[in-house]
Amino acid sequence: MDAKVSKKDLNWSELGFQYQRTDFRFSATWEKGSWNEGGLVSSEFIAVHEGAPALHYAQQCFEGMKAQTAADGRILLFRPNLNSERMNLAGPRLLMPEVPAEMFMSAVEQTVRANYAWIPPYGSGASLYIRPMLIGIGENLGLKPAKQYEFRVFVSPVGPYYQQAGLAVISLAVSDVDRAAPLGTGSFKVGANYAGGLLATRMAQQLGANEALYLDSLERRYIDEAGSANIIIALKDGSFVTPKSDAILPSITRRSIMQLAKDQLGLVTEERPIDLRKEFPNFQEAAACGTAAVLTPVGRIWYDDAWHNINGDGESVGPVMQKLYDLLIGIQKGELEDPYSWLHEVEI
Ligand code: PLP
Ligand code: COI
Repeated sequence: MDAKVSKKDLNWSELGFQYQRTDFRFSATWEKGSWNEGGLVSSEFIAVHEGAPALHYAQQCFEGMKAQTAADGRILLFRPNLNSERMNLAGPRLLMPEVPAEMFMSAVEQTVRANYAWIPPYGSGASLYIRPMLIGIGENLGLKPAKQYEFRVFVSPVGPYYQQAGLAVISLAVSDVDRAAPLGTGSFKVGANYAGGLLATRMAQQLGANEALYLDSLERRYIDEAGSANIIIALKDGSFVTPKSDAILPSITRRSIMQLAKDQLGLVTEERPIDLRKEFPNFQEAAACGTAAVLTPVGRIWYDDAWHNINGDGESVGPVMQKLYDLLIGIQKGELEDPYSWLHEVEI
């Protein structure tokens, strides 16, 4: 197939973070201990049994990745091996089969390649969001794992997660409901964590915030993470910290930013428990980070019935987050050197 067909006529720079149907998705199924070969399909609908454990008992997990177009036209993925590894932690936690790394990578590449016309062009500010998912689909009633599974990858061109292009400053509201128990599934990318978070997001938005911020559910003291992103903080003493917690998603973006902060900005970095109320006066800059969120500065946090501003008026982007954002997206788009070999090119 000559994948290099002309691009779709979309207003790329106006895209938000919404589902846009594309032409192809990858689908493979598992039964009796093995995966079939799978392949590309065109329907965006999945036929599953009405008793499927994915529907009743949330036996499902997913991933989130992006493909970017570089200035020279190369199509770049960012650390896709880590998404594959993370899915193979979530799957077995819910008694689902592993997705072999080769199958994961091949499925992602095939889907990206087949939807070449939908990959936003360089300079548009948009990217191709990739959603791998694993679901228990077979007939079932009682609480037990499915006998059949589907691994699927679909893609959708997307713009910024938080409305504005570039570096938008967002606000977070500490949630009154918990996302994850200390020994629960918080560190796995499983849908159940997100279903429970819908109400928290709604409550945060009713307060005028963009997203919920979760504190640890044991003591409700330490920062865990936001609804769809991890948290990073530049402290007034010049150090750069991020919460240590077993109940948060181990963000690939965060791991990358912590490395850039240490190596490229020379900051002293630390992953440790962060007591929100006690340490807030020492916050210089804060941000949410993730595949969808990229790096989004946090200007204000709602807790104890009041807004608390960070970095002055709570609306400006600080220099540390600006530099880290520039470094991160510079590498992701192939504009800066990639000293850690984080990029993976999809041959078109
Ligand atoms: N935390 C949550 C709850 C998320 O949904 C995401 C998004 O994937 C992240 C953090 C960021 O993880 P990553 O940087 O791997 O996308
Ligand atoms: C991602 O950043 O890839 C996510 O999965 C977050 C999701 C809530 C959009």
